[in-house]
Amino acid sequence: MAQQKNDRSETHTSRRASPEGAAVVHRVGIVMNGVTGRMGANQHLLRSVKAIRDQGGVRLNDEEVILPDPILVGRNPVKLARLAEISGLEKWTTDVEAALEDPAYPVYFDAQTTSRRAEGVRKAIELGKHVYCEKPTALTTAEALALYEAARDAGVKHGVVQDKLWLPGLMKLRMLRDTGFFGRILSVRGEFGYWVFEGDAVPAQRPSWNYRKEDGGGIILDMLCHWRYVLEDLFGPVRAVSCLGATHIPRRWDEHGRPYPVTADDSAYATFELEGGIVAHFNSSWCVRVRRDDLLTIQVDGTKGSAVAGLRRCWTQAYGNTPRPAWNPDVPQPIDFFDGWLEAPDQRTYDNAFKAQWELFLRHVVKDEPFPYDLLAGARGVQLAELGLASWRRRAWVDIPPLAP
Ligand SMILES: NC(=O)c1ccc[n+]([C@@H]2O[C@H](COP(=O)([O-])OP(=O)(O)OC[C@H]3O[C@@H](n4cnc5c(N)ncnc54)[C@H](O)[C@@H]3O)[C@@H](O)[C@H]2O)c1
Repeated sequence: MAQQKNDRSETHTSRRASPEGAAVVHRVGIVMNGVTGRMGANQHLLRSVKAIRDQGGVRLNDEEVILPDPILVGRNPVKLARLAEISGLEKWTTDVEAALEDPAYPVYFDAQTTSRRAEGVRKAIELGKHVYCEKPTALTTAEALALYEAARDAGVKHGVVQDKLWLPGLMKLRMLRDTGFFGRILSVRGEFGYWVFEGDAVPAQRPSWNYRKEDGGGIILDMLCHWRYVLEDLFGPVRAVSCLGATHIPRRWDEHGRPYPVTADDSAYATFELEGGIVAHFNSSWCVRVRRDDLLTIQVDGTKGSAVAGLRRCWTQAYGNTPRPAWNPDVPQPIDFFDGWLEAPDQRTYDNAFKAQWELFLRHVVKDEPFPYDLLAGARGVQLAELGLASWRRRAWVDIPPLAP
């Protein structure tokens, strides 16, 4: 039986006893493009799609499971064959056009470099595929919005990665907010970043295109997409941005050991005004050394309590535990400020953040369950990045207008 989703895309459903013990297996073919890259291979293929297959699919109820069935797409057959071997998945191709034409694959996934995303996603939508992709969805807001409109008009399902929402640390923040721990939230401080080596003496741990504007690089485009959905999900709509970018390290070495000039921003110091008066400030940098709890920490201060979340852990300080320091540099500080914090326990198990979102997207495709993390949300991320860049250029606060399709 084939479930018709729209004119062109369908998910294949078979009614038979399966190894997973489910009577109904919804097989969802996925063209996975950019899967040889860092994110494509590690987070999306191995820790999400393969992990979902290894657990027997996404179980919907006693009867039904969703089984993602990917075909790996890339340019390099050697890398693809190796990835297929590591993952135990057999199907791969260097011919993305042919994979997209194949009705066995109703979903297109894109984790290519940022500058290639819009074209890849647009083509897939034109062929009637459902699309799921990494952020940023495009280089400009206009292009990102056009992708949303194309997907909406084609009637396909669409989604954009918003992985940070499923980080255990941020889920704990959400729980604290929902249970009123903070009182009235006043401010949010995000510290993101670590030292990314230049690539000469020590190999760089990020791809070189990240540092070339002409190839879609730059930390503002990369990170402000994330900060928009994080702020809006946890604290409220972003109304204005003031952003100062910098290129602190002007020369780096690429994957072949060749020096190149850095043409993109590698650090961003951004302040956001949220609806309701919350002030958020996020520092994002690839030129910073870490002396904090994690690579990303978010501190929330409220009238009744504060919390600091890392990727997985979260520490809280309630009003009654708040120390009362007095400024006196003439004596050693008598308070150990780390002592007054209590760690929020794991009150549930936490899955990989990318995998958690993949499961929701697959349920959206097969069962039409709600999935708000769509191409319009993706466009809002690109909009904040674009206006952050405009703020830097103009040295001014920039209001964020509603994004009207
Ligand atoms: N959600 C997150 O937290 C997160 C983190 C890092 C990166 N990303 C996003 O994921 C995307 C990929 O980033 P990455 O760090 O994995 O990059 P990467 O350089 O490791 O991988 C890029 C992929 O694109 C492919 N590619 C590059 N040029 C191509 C071309 N000309 N034709 C066809 N394919 C080409 C590469 O082969 C590779 O598979 C970026 O858009 C980035 O913004 C998201």
